[in-house]
Amino acid sequence: MGEMGLVLGIDVSTTATKAVLVDGSGAVRGIGTAEYGYDTPRALWSEQDPGLWWAGSVEAIGRALVAAGVAGEAVEAVGLTGQMHGAVLLDTAGEVLRPAILWNDQRTAVECDEMRALVGPERLIEITGNDAITGFTAPKLLWIRRHEAATWARLAHVLLPKDYLRLRLTGEYAIDVADGSGTILFELAARTWSSEVLEVLGLDPAWFPPTFEGPEVTGALTAKAAAATGLRAGTPVVAGGGDQSANGVGVGAVDEGIVALSLGTSGVIFAATHAPIHEARGRVHAFCHAVPGRWHLMSVMLSAAGSLRWFRDTLAPGEGFGELVEPAANVAAATDGLFFLPYLTGERSPHPDPLARGAFVGLTVQHDRRHLTRAVLEGVAFGLRDGLDLMLAAGMPRPAQIRASGGGLASDVWRQILADVLDAELVTTSTTEGAAFGAAVLAATGAGWYRDVPSAAAALVRTSHAASPGAARSAYATAHAAYRELYPALTPTFHRGQPSDGARG
Ligand code: XUL
Repeated sequence: MGEMGLVLGIDVSTTATKAVLVDGSGAVRGIGTAEYGYDTPRALWSEQDPGLWWAGSVEAIGRALVAAGVAGEAVEAVGLTGQMHGAVLLDTAGEVLRPAILWNDQRTAVECDEMRALVGPERLIEITGNDAITGFTAPKLLWIRRHEAATWARLAHVLLPKDYLRLRLTGEYAIDVADGSGTILFELAARTWSSEVLEVLGLDPAWFPPTFEGPEVTGALTAKAAAATGLRAGTPVVAGGGDQSANGVGVGAVDEGIVALSLGTSGVIFAATHAPIHEARGRVHAFCHAVPGRWHLMSVMLSAAGSLRWFRDTLAPGEGFGELVEPAANVAAATDGLFFLPYLTGERSPHPDPLARGAFVGLTVQHDRRHLTRAVLEGVAFGLRDGLDLMLAAGMPRPAQIRASGGGLASDVWRQILADVLDAELVTTSTTEGAAFGAAVLAATGAGWYRDVPSAAAALVRTSHAASPGAARSAYATAHAAYRELYPALTPTFHRGQPSDGARG
């Protein structure tokens, strides 16, 4: 290891670029952030100018160096991460052809059907590990072919958001296998582009960059990029990973048995696997991990802490979350047959259904706001448990420990409910920098500080105990069985009167 050298992780997210400097002890020495917005030119559309990621990175890197009080020479390697699935379309000269179409864009329901029809619905899942959903990259390319002939005619390179930043930093076209598999143009087991899927969809293999494992060096900083960022020309840049796999690395979910839970607006359960397993109907995502030789399963709930925010904003506007949640500790677990379904914005896992809706079921005059609040916390935990159960059914071993992060973890009531419902020890990690920290861990491995990613994570990620499953565990197992009956029972109600061509979540 260099003498107290630093590694830099950069996360190109939907709302900001964040740069994080990490030293050899795993301490975060400086953080820089540059915020920006994204455009919604039409209902269901979500786009962003790739230039924002470059400008945001230049600003964020400068701020992180100032915060750490170091010069760019101190940085030994750079790791990249970012929002997954975005389609960045470039011409032969590497110029941006149109705004990137982002992961949360929903315009491609027709193209998802087209993909299933062309590849075969079962074959698609067999090769890529996943069903087609609107957020993924592949259907966006089919949409461009159908709707934007001029862009299509000039298309020469397809990149993901962080790989556009890589192009600006190093001049190289390259992609890591974790983000690459999120295009659903990958052969999951082979960890590279699927020639079968590309051919059947009529996509030119020359558009897609060479693939690298997360800690592999893909290139070095150009003199021009060095002048713009203050970093040293020649600094190695490693492949990195999409934000979910990099976050997995950042919390140490790098081996089977350790699961990561991130409880933000959405709720993600992420588990490293030793083999390219997938759920038979593609109801949880199966991608390559940023750790060589590892894959991961991932379930995504769309409204997790988002459900609690909605509840607070609607029924207790202006109140703090603490004020709202603490009284819920004083009512019984699985509160007298009252249930909340958290499908306020449709759902991805375990029910890939944009028309799924939220519900309170089982209200009586005995219930007050405390019970409603507790039902929301429990309903989100039950939904997450559904995702975990699908991952277990796909062949993942039962987790011994869950590494949890995100705003929802601030509540000890919710932490306990999650440990009880998920039936595993919950721990939190020392940094909250998630994906950017994980990208720095990948850079530290690429710089040769550690033998491999699991050793780097073991050295750099520290955890503290948050909650263990307790007495309410068996009451929750019974309540969860009842909760599971509600979505199928209510589906006809959710779907009645709704447009049948709604976008898939
Ligand atoms: C993952 C996904 C999101 C984006 C957000 O499948 O769509 O987590 O990566 O940045």
